[in-house]
Amino acid sequence: MLFPGIISLPPHTLLLAPMENITHTVFRCLCRRYGADMVFTEFVSAEELLHNRRRTLEKLTFRQEERPLGIQLYGHRKEEMTEAARRIMTYAPDVLDINFGCPARKIARRGAGAGMLKNIPAMVGITAAIVQAASCPVTVKTRLGWDRDHLDILEITLRLQDAGIRAITIHGRTGDQGYGGKADWTLIGEVKNHPGVHIPVFGNGDIRTPEDAKERFQQTGVDGIMIGRAAIGKPWIFRDIREYFRTGTVPPAPGLRERVELASEHLTESVKTRGLPRGVYEMRSHLILYFKEFEIFQHVWKEMITCTDPGKILELMNRMTEH
Ligand SMILES: Cc1cc2nc3c(=O)[nH]c(=O)nc-3n(C[C@H](O)[C@H](O)[C@H](O)COP(=O)(O)O)c2cc1C
Repeated sequence: MLFPGIISLPPHTLLLAPMENITHTVFRCLCRRYGADMVFTEFVSAEELLHNRRRTLEKLTFRQEERPLGIQLYGHRKEEMTEAARRIMTYAPDVLDINFGCPARKIARRGAGAGMLKNIPAMVGITAAIVQAASCPVTVKTRLGWDRDHLDILEITLRLQDAGIRAITIHGRTGDQGYGGKADWTLIGEVKNHPGVHIPVFGNGDIRTPEDAKERFQQTGVDGIMIGRAAIGKPWIFRDIREYFRTGTVPPAPGLRERVELASEHLTESVKTRGLPRGVYEMRSHLILYFKEFEIFQHVWKEMITCTDPGKILELMNRMTEH
């Protein structure tokens, strides 16, 4: 059991990673349905939240069926982060997750996201203040350290644990690495197996298949793995991983018809919750990844991802199944 007494998660927990512009409510619901044990919102700026930006406030809403759900917060000023955490409590998430891992220059340069890896005392101070302010468990998602010369993740984990966080997710890259190179899980395993670390440790980075997932669990003994990019256009990856663990076999991938049904539901719900044209725009990256393996998609993709009429997109999808 993780987060004792508050949230119960199974062994080999499977988490959907927070992803900006991707992990909206409809996609999170689909991932939960396919077996993700917990999901996260995309990151939310403390500063924008305190300015009551409509787009930011929208990111905080979720459906009950998504629970357990974490809302993710980022920023670099302690008072702002703490006040934002208090406001987030009114949305009653299961977990408040702090982002100390985003490498985007405009964020890290200001000392937020992965930029905080360069100032561990500030990271610990902000975390301790948020733990005090929040009425739900606080978790952190971060990276191995700022760069290869500062692989501080063990020290960071121990200090954040002392500050009161209830779990840590470690992406096996450094801050200055962005998304380049490969995720290195060696240090994630060392943190998990350190005798001083008692909180759950979740690993993240480059898991694409059930085989990858199994290998990472075996290599590191982590409590859970968090999956990001591999779930886009493939929310059934969570089911595949569970089935693979249970039976040793990966279920056959959904065929075109099943994917059309799923993508149609995704699009329809997306338009319902986000309106037009946003609901359609936000579907484009998903659509490409739902269908890219199918030859027939090559003939319709341009039309499908430039179209703003959901009815027309549904028609194009259905037409693919008629061949
Ligand atoms: C499009 C995109 C948006 C992302 N947005 C966030 C975010 O809002 N918060 C966060 O902590 N990480 C974010 N990430 C990082 C992912 O959560 C994850 O750490 C990273 O993609 C590595 O995992 P993966 O190899 O399974 O994709 C984002 C990644 C991508 C590709």
